[in-house]
Amino acid sequence: MLIVHNAGQILTLAGGSQRGHSLGNLGIVENGAVVIQSGQVLAVGKSDSLLAAYPAAERYDAGGRVVMPGFVDPHTHLVWAGDRADEFSLRQQGKPYMEILAMGGGILSTVRATRAASVAQLVTETRPRALAAFNHGTTTMEVKTGYGLTLESEINQLRAIVALDQEGPLELIPTFMGAHAVPPEYQDQPDEYVDLLCQEMLPGIYAWWQSEAPHLPLPFVDVFCERGAFDLAQSRRILEAARDLGFPLKIHADEFENLGGAALAAALGAVSADHLVKTSPKDIKALANSETVAVSLPGTPFGLNEAEFTPAKALIEADALLALATDINPGTSWCESMQFILALACRKMGLSPQQAIAAATINAAAALKLQNRVGSIEPGKQADLLILNVNDFRHLGYRFGTNLVSHVIKRGKLFPVG
Ligand code: NIG
Ligand code: FE
Repeated sequence: MLIVHNAGQILTLAGGSQRGHSLGNLGIVENGAVVIQSGQVLAVGKSDSLLAAYPAAERYDAGGRVVMPGFVDPHTHLVWAGDRADEFSLRQQGKPYMEILAMGGGILSTVRATRAASVAQLVTETRPRALAAFNHGTTTMEVKTGYGLTLESEINQLRAIVALDQEGPLELIPTFMGAHAVPPEYQDQPDEYVDLLCQEMLPGIYAWWQSEAPHLPLPFVDVFCERGAFDLAQSRRILEAARDLGFPLKIHADEFENLGGAALAAALGAVSADHLVKTSPKDIKALANSETVAVSLPGTPFGLNEAEFTPAKALIEADALLALATDINPGTSWCESMQFILALACRKMGLSPQQAIAAATINAAAALKLQNRVGSIEPGKQADLLILNVNDFRHLGYRFGTNLVSHVIKRGKLFPVG
């Protein structure tokens, strides 16, 4: 048993996910303590009374600093091979991201590198990114495939995700994204690739999962719904086929243009709709009237040096569920740090630090259907905690570019950072 005591502020985020107007309720306990047993939170309360109630527990003195739930990063493309530094130069010269993809670069350049890599190489290249994210306070992360675009190569990405999850300490939640781009072999017959996805790849992933990981929940299925990737009708076909097999759904919608992906997500009961830069007032309403979590990825417009970000204030006003994620990937947003994402969300989307913290913890957990296990510090929940280097939670959002995490606790185990 471990007691983390003498925390100036414990941000409990207790009480479940937070819709629009209630976003930012941190549930702060001052002079607090958390008691941890068998990897779970046993009790949260005032330091004095918990030290008296659990005298035999091993003690960790938080020294008056902030203790909060580990960040949940609900949208990443963490597993890839190679890099795209050359494309960064092209983009600096004014070449648009989707034009580079249309030329066979972009996502397709990472597909070539990833197809050529073994599972062991993928694990080796991805591990430092997973560790960097963990050291910056992410304790649970979703990871998409989508750089293979053949059943075999997509399964290799899933194998790398499962292997890194088992290795720990970062917990990884897989998503199958065979619909990330139309592969070069199908460049002129995109509908045939959609047929392949629906008739062979999705059932193949389902069968592979049942035989290799029957004890784990099915991965999510995600589609890049955008001109130059999959149109609305194709996205619907893929998501409906996935839903019929029992996969939970996600979508990349409205990153560059509004094709109606966010409304489709709401209509299909998707767990989340992500990006949401060009989302219309009507689609914001559709999201707000659904259980679909709106996941904003401010690292992406920042990474592409674009002016527009998710209309977060309108989503909050409409009472939608808003979450934040890094979208870490080699093209648009190579950023392991949720802390930097919070700083961007405060400046570019007008969130308060309180709102950004809730969007990056309990609401981010809801974007993975994990809000009952992670994302807050409450009895019975997994003991995934951060001890920050600061005494005031507002330093998150306010500061950027240095790591404010002192220690990460994952499933009750304490990891010093740096
Ligand atoms: O979320 N937009 C599609 N997918 C990623 C980018 C992937 C890449 O460029 O490699 C995104 O921004
Ligand atoms: Fe993405």
